[in-house]
Amino acid sequence: MYLTRVEQAMLDGEEGATLQKAIEILVALGDIYGADRLIPVKSAQIAGVSYKTIGDAGLEWISDLHGKVRIPSILNPAGMDLQDWEKMCIDPEFAHKQQLIIEAYEKLGINAQCTCTPYYLEGFNATYGDHLAWSESSAVSYANSVIGARTNREGGPSALSAALVGKTANYGYHLDEMRNPTVSVTVECELNGSDYGALGYIVGKMVGSKVPLFILKGKPDNEELKSLGAAMAASGAVALYHVEGVTPEARNNKFAKPDENITIQEEQIREIYNITKPDINDLDIITIGCPHCSPAELSLIAGLLEGRTVNKEVWICTSREIANKHPELVRSIEKSGAKVICDTCMVVSPATEKYKTMMVNSGKALAYVPGMCRVPTLFGDIYKCIKEAVRE
Ligand code: F3S
Repeated sequence: MYLTRVEQAMLDGEEGATLQKAIEILVALGDIYGADRLIPVKSAQIAGVSYKTIGDAGLEWISDLHGKVRIPSILNPAGMDLQDWEKMCIDPEFAHKQQLIIEAYEKLGINAQCTCTPYYLEGFNATYGDHLAWSESSAVSYANSVIGARTNREGGPSALSAALVGKTANYGYHLDEMRNPTVSVTVECELNGSDYGALGYIVGKMVGSKVPLFILKGKPDNEELKSLGAAMAASGAVALYHVEGVTPEARNNKFAKPDENITIQEEQIREIYNITKPDINDLDIITIGCPHCSPAELSLIAGLLEGRTVNKEVWICTSREIANKHPELVRSIEKSGAKVICDTCMVVSPATEKYKTMMVNSGKALAYVPGMCRVPTLFGDIYKCIKEAVRE
């Protein structure tokens, strides 16, 4: 792989051990995947933040790094609400370790907001054609597919390396030829809201890491696309998809029709809602906001909860910046007894593990919660989730 003189000096250790390690990681990935060079990236989003997932070994690794990131860089969700972890009944020892992880990242100049929807935040609103180094799989899918930016599905260490160097290796979804659809998916029914999460849950399992081109009956909005991409990235490993006539690259290009075609029928979508195990009578927590809620989603939830009281634990997950910008929505949701939770989520926090059964409206949460939190999970649309939340 071609390196400039400055990059070669970095690789030779002339700018210190941290940058040497960082560029070594980028060059190693570039060599494996056949990159020709390093390219500048506009921002980095770094996974490997929750103490639940990285533990003491991760904390030690980050604490040993020195220097400052060269591009705007932000974190993935942590294991708790960083300002109000007590409302989640987090163990103080866990909270202490989590704070040390955040401080170690902050020392490197990283924005310590922890969210899987960086694209809603000032300074991270990527635009068409931008090269990025993002690692959270739903954010990667949204950036590539809905925005038309370009990022591989980075691991935590490679995203952090890109943040420190300001560059990434030029391979995978940074290249035009890797962005063409490889399977078409025709959906034979109209879809609405969380149906897109159900669709993503089904299709991700079928296509793995291929690039689907959807032919849909309606026009999903950006929240529905967010939900579709997040689910496919979790049940499969889809990092880029297109929707005919909707997503930017499908509008800008005339794609050749992929050889493989899948058809999805309405019964397949309904089956996801009809999971009857676990028993709904065991339902004791409802979580919404996977990926983190947008202002429009918070507004919908606030409207549905207005004048009502929840009778179960209810988490509405969003980013700190969105919660701070919409205090009236947060107040209105919390008046019902539901909790607006920032910086974390139902999957990466250990706080959900004690519940018997969870209901979610997210295909991604449906894919992850049973395995990662060991909590049996039911799927419902947002109306069903709220109905169950307020049921006596
Ligand atoms: Fe975000 Fe957590 Fe879901 S990181 S995409 S809310 S699993």
